[in-house]
Amino acid sequence: MNRTLLIIKPDATKRNLAGAILKQIIDEGFTIVGMKMLWLNKEQGGEFYKIHKGKDFYDWLVNFISSGPIVVCCLKSPNAPKKLREVVGATDPKKAAQGTVRNLYGTSVGENVVHAAAPDEDPQREISFFFTEKELFEY
Ligand code: CDP
Ligand code: MG
Repeated sequence: MNRTLLIIKPDATKRNLAGAILKQIIDEGFTIVGMKMLWLNKEQGGEFYKIHKGKDFYDWLVNFISSGPIVVCCLKSPNAPKKLREVVGATDPKKAAQGTVRNLYGTSVGENVVHAAAPDEDPQREISFFFTEKELFEY
């Protein structure tokens, strides 16, 4: 799998961090093959995060992801899903390794600035959630 999905979450777009986060990720060797800015409604947010339905943070998460604009990116690199998770860091910014995106910019376990598709949770489903194949560009 050489593609994965990144979402710059509403806490990050509100703080004008999209550029800094993308620069860091591109500097790690990723290429952007698709990108768009969107504002999800709660139905779309709930569908995207349906794997978490029933968890105590689900309602909060659906509200959060639909609370403002997001930037969704399809990124390419060798071993993209695993590599992006490494660059992004652990879910809880306090536990994320030094220099990772969440360590640098995250403010809480919920408001952790980015989503990165999990390698074992079907990254292609997440890419297809936001992009048709015609909206992805490789050259
Ligand atoms: O995003 P990641 O795959 O690292 O974590 P997750 O366990 O799949 O959870 C998805 C998202 O739910 C996280 O990125 C957080 O925004 C949120 N979350 C939360 O608010 N409270 C938790 N205890 C766990 C996750
Ligand atoms: Mg996850």
